[in-house]
Amino acid sequence: MDREQHRNVFIGISSGSIVQARDVHVHNTVAYPTPYQLPPDQAAFVGRSEHLEQLDDLASRNQETARTAVITGQPGVGKTALAVHWGHRAREQYPDGQLYVDLRGYDATGDPARWENVLEAFLQALGGPQLVIPASREAQKGLYHSMTSERRVLAILDNAASTDQVRSLIPPGARCLTLVTSRKGLPGLVARDGARRLTLDPLPTEHAVTFLTSIVAEHRIPEATMAQLAELCAGLPLALRIAAEHAANPGTRIERYIQELSDEQSRLDALDFSDDDTSTAVRAIFSWSYRALPHVPAPWSVTCHQHQSGHGGSARRRRRVSSAEGLVPACRRAPG
Ligand SMILES: Nc1ncnc2c1ncn2[C@@H]1O[C@H](COP(=O)(O)OP(=O)(O)O)[C@@H](O)[C@H]1O
Ligand SMILES: [Mg+2]
Repeated sequence: MDREQHRNVFIGISSGSIVQARDVHVHNTVAYPTPYQLPPDQAAFVGRSEHLEQLDDLASRNQETARTAVITGQPGVGKTALAVHWGHRAREQYPDGQLYVDLRGYDATGDPARWENVLEAFLQALGGPQLVIPASREAQKGLYHSMTSERRVLAILDNAASTDQVRSLIPPGARCLTLVTSRKGLPGLVARDGARRLTLDPLPTEHAVTFLTSIVAEHRIPEATMAQLAELCAGLPLALRIAAEHAANPGTRIERYIQELSDEQSRLDALDFSDDDTSTAVRAIFSWSYRALPHVPAPWSVTCHQHQSGHGGSARRRRRVSSAEGLVPACRRAPG
């Protein structure tokens, strides 16, 4: 039987009754499409070697069940950047496809992706346009299982709001690996599904300076000033990126800019961009991040509240944390 005949057999079965669809067997000889859905990698990725090693370790494990990691941390800390960077590094280990979806768990629009729609899109991506997707959700899950059982697929489920939103999207095949990013720790996924949790902290000063230097030419700003900038951004990658882009602008007077960043009241403006899209994103992310907290009318109040409750340790650390929180995450892609 040639390849085309194999394909016909597969399509014939999957387009039959729901019961038949669950029994689809996927053969290596079938010419399925290979989805390459990863967003582009970071131009200059810095640090995170420990986390990259932990992901390498997870990928190299011999186990009977699917491998899953939950990458968690505050908005703008670099969850998506880490997942996508590792995905590119490990691409060759997943030759049957790399799936990616932004689940919009924290979008200001309040319109998170429905897992049912994402599952259908993943099935179509793995099976090609001719694949007939069964109507029942159970049959779709069965088909997803069958289609990934023999394949090596990487899935990145970005910005997940909850365990329920991702559970059915994890490719069940034992040779597959899934990276979930979320502001939450998703304890259900860790406890019940055996996912490994990786928590990201802001970058240490050394790496923060390397990051700044990759955007701002070193000759323009002395290293001591870079370190000051890194400190004011509390090592938060998104804040570093915004500050670096401001600093890289030839029209920016760096001493004056640092002064503005040091002044909490003007920090919001100092990290804002003039273009409408980004400014809108800044405000939207601000409102979204704090919406979930009851009795807190404005972001600055959150900072004050945390100070009063002694959150964050020393006065110096508290000032830095407050800086990071006041930095207002903003970028071309909304942080998650
Ligand atoms: N390790 C890193 N090296 C270089 N840039 C990074 C790194 N981590 C994050 N960034 C950059 O910082 C910004 C915020 O990172 P992102 O991954 O979007 O955060 P999150 O997903 O946690 O909200 C992005 O512009 C990203 O490219
Ligand atoms: Mg993100």
